[in-house]
Amino acid sequence: MNETDFIFKNYNLSNIANGSITWKTPSNIALVKYWGKREPQIPENTSISFTLDACFTLTILEYSKRQTPHGERDSASHENNFNFEIYFEGEKKNDFKPKIATFFKRIEKYAPFLKDFEFIIKSENSFPHSSGIASSASGMGALALCVMSLEKELNSAMTDAYFNKKASFLARLGSGSACRSVEGPLIVWGKHPEIEGSSDLFGTKFPYKIHDNFKNYQDTILLVDEGEKQVSSTVGHALMHNHPFAKQRFKQANSNISKISIALQNGDLSAFIANVESEALSLHAMMMTSNPYFILMKPNTLKIINEIWEFRAATKSNICFTLDAGANVHVLFPEKEKEKVNNFIKSNLMQFCQENHYICDSIGKGAKKISNI
Ligand code: DP6
Repeated sequence: MNETDFIFKNYNLSNIANGSITWKTPSNIALVKYWGKREPQIPENTSISFTLDACFTLTILEYSKRQTPHGERDSASHENNFNFEIYFEGEKKNDFKPKIATFFKRIEKYAPFLKDFEFIIKSENSFPHSSGIASSASGMGALALCVMSLEKELNSAMTDAYFNKKASFLARLGSGSACRSVEGPLIVWGKHPEIEGSSDLFGTKFPYKIHDNFKNYQDTILLVDEGEKQVSSTVGHALMHNHPFAKQRFKQANSNISKISIALQNGDLSAFIANVESEALSLHAMMMTSNPYFILMKPNTLKIINEIWEFRAATKSNICFTLDAGANVHVLFPEKEKEKVNNFIKSNLMQFCQENHYICDSIGKGAKKISNI
């Protein structure tokens, strides 16, 4: 599929009533990282992620047709403005508007009906706002899905497969990693010769059978630093242009996709662990070697990593860690080690979390439309 397949034409607004749409959309954690992109939001390398479950954004999109007093479209404001208000956790958030407007502008070519409506967007996260957990994946994912449900109202013949592909395509234009939040449990984004159906334009389900070792895999998120990040992902991605190690990094990531694909199929937990931890540290190595350089890990991030390594060596556990663009640590482990690892987290790792905060999550199936709330 290419971009033109996502352009929606010839719609008829006469049959549509005002209404509201709700989507619950999870966050995701990358195993092989997306870090570096080019216009229009095309990743420099393939990434793969576990879709999460307990960490999600719930978004309600209330829509009503935009009309002049005479029932015709108000073409002056229609030209330049999208008409929407945004509420986050019950509060009107005008400072969120530019980001949403930029998103609408980017997707307007594919969803030309956006300016025919007035929207009220109401959003909330299951995780604390200040937790340092990036909400752009779940937030942009949820909004893209709401837009797609509205498109479906205008085009009831749309298939589920097209719906999901286009939702992921639109989400990508909001935030790259958001395209991996539409479905689950394992999503690939970025064209890769060994992953059938993979695309730079949208996320696709990992197409091969996943070994039972990874069934219901656990992710406990240790909240090391609950503040705002000093360097945004957008800035970090941009620093991969002219980065001295960029070329090798993109090559390494694509080769890690081949390796992790095999490990996920044959259940090789040691290979999985080596791959995932190396990816996390390579991501942060890119940050430390960019110009300007920066460090997002905190002393407690490193203490946790060392504790995990000691515990693994001493107990032969299959526990491992990954990081996203921040100081928090995602602790990954098989479901059957849940009790043992949770005890270890409580006794050894919790002390390194801000106010002892951590979130127990596991692999999820993807976004869900909510009919009545
Ligand atoms: C380190 O998707 O947040 O989490 O496309 O600019 O919105 P934008 O960036 P974003 O980057 C995520 C980076 C990462 C790795 C990953 O999720 O693959």
